[in-house]
Amino acid sequence: MSEPLRAKHPEVGVPVELAQLEFTFDGEPLHALPGQSIGGALIMAGRRSWRRTRISNRPRGLFCGIGVCFDCLVNINGRPNQRACAIQTEPGDVVTTQEGSGGYDS
Ligand code: FES
Repeated sequence: MSEPLRAKHPEVGVPVELAQLEFTFDGEPLHALPGQSIGGALIMAGRRSWRRTRISNRPRGLFCGIGVCFDCLVNINGRPNQRACAIQTEPGDVVTTQEGSGGYDS
């Protein structure tokens, strides 16, 4: 049986010292790597969900991770329904949990 990759290479993992870009999520300061998506930065920070579904109020986060499924919708700088997996984190971004449709209920 092979040894786990992390045991062989303890340096493998989140390069926290490189995550210099600061943004907030629900008021909490977090860090991202340059060029990292908001979804990637949230996962790196240990978040697994940042949206609640409109009908059943169930948590959602990354699913496809490539901009197809729309499970990762989040509010970014006051704009709802932004795909966290497809938007690069910018310094000072204010990201908040999205509840339901993000205000687009008819
Ligand atoms: S995780 Fe599927 S669109 Fe973002």
